[in-house]
Amino acid sequence: MAKIVVISGAGISAESGLKTFRDDDGLWRNHSFYDLASPQAWEKQPELVLEFYNERRQLALAAQPNPAHLALAELESHHDVVIVTQNVDDLHERAGSSQVIHLHGELAKVRSTSDSTLIYSANGNPTQIGDLCELGSQLRPHIVWFGERVMDFDIAIQEVSRADKVMVVGTSLAVYPAASLLDFAKQADEKILVTKDIDGEPPESFQWLKGKAAHWVPKIASRWLL
Ligand code: OAD
Repeated sequence: MAKIVVISGAGISAESGLKTFRDDDGLWRNHSFYDLASPQAWEKQPELVLEFYNERRQLALAAQPNPAHLALAELESHHDVVIVTQNVDDLHERAGSSQVIHLHGELAKVRSTSDSTLIYSANGNPTQIGDLCELGSQLRPHIVWFGERVMDFDIAIQEVSRADKVMVVGTSLAVYPAASLLDFAKQADEKILVTKDIDGEPPESFQWLKGKAAHWVPKIASRWLL
C-alpha cells in the first residue's frame, strides 16, 4: 500500500460541466473576483455574493463526478489516498473518496459570520440575507475568499511531505499558498502533473501529461493499481 496524495483544482471538474477560473470561459474572465470573492465584496454587496455562490452551489449539485474523480476514488481499494483540493464542489466525495481536504472551503456548507467554527450544511438550499446561525448572526458561504486564511494547510503540507506518489490535476498553480504544496513532495518517487495548459514552465521534477483529466487520470490510476 502506497501513500498517494492528489492535489486537484478546477480542471478536474471541467469535464463534469463546472467552469474553471482562468481558462478562456473561466469564472474570473467574466467576473471580477474582488467583486464576488472578497471580504470587501461581502461588506459592500452581500446579496450579490450570495447570489454568485447560490448559483454555483446549484450547478455543483447538478454535476456528476467524471472518470477522473471515479478513478481516484477507486485507488482507495489498494492505497492510502488523500485528496487535497482547491475545489469547492463535492465531486471527489460523491465519487467515493473518503479523505478530502478542502483548502478553499465547500459550497455545500455555510458558516456563521460571528463564529467561524459554527459550520452547517446548506442542505442544497440557497442562502439568503436573514438566514442566521444559532447565535443570531448572518450565515455566509463556507468559502475562503481572497485575503482569508486557507483551511487545513498544515495538514496538507504533512500529507504531501509523506507521500510516495503525488498527482497534481487540473490546476493552473496560479494561487498561493496551494501552489507551494508541490515543493513539499520531497519523498515521492513519482510526481505527475495533468493539466490542459500551464502558465510558464512546468514545475521541476514533475512529469507533465498535457491533456484532459478524464483521459489521463484513469490511465495513471490503473497503473498505480497494478
Ligand atoms: P484555474 O482556473 O486557475 O486553472 C484550471 C487549470 O485546469 C488550468 O491549468 C487548465 O489548463 C486546466 N484544465 C482545464 N480543463 C481541464 C481538463 N478537462 N482536464 C485537466 N485540466 C484542465 O483553477 P485552479 O487552479 O483550481 O480560489 O484555481 C485555483 C483557485 O483560484 C481556485 O480554488 C479559486 C480561484 O480563485 C478561490 O476562489 C479562493
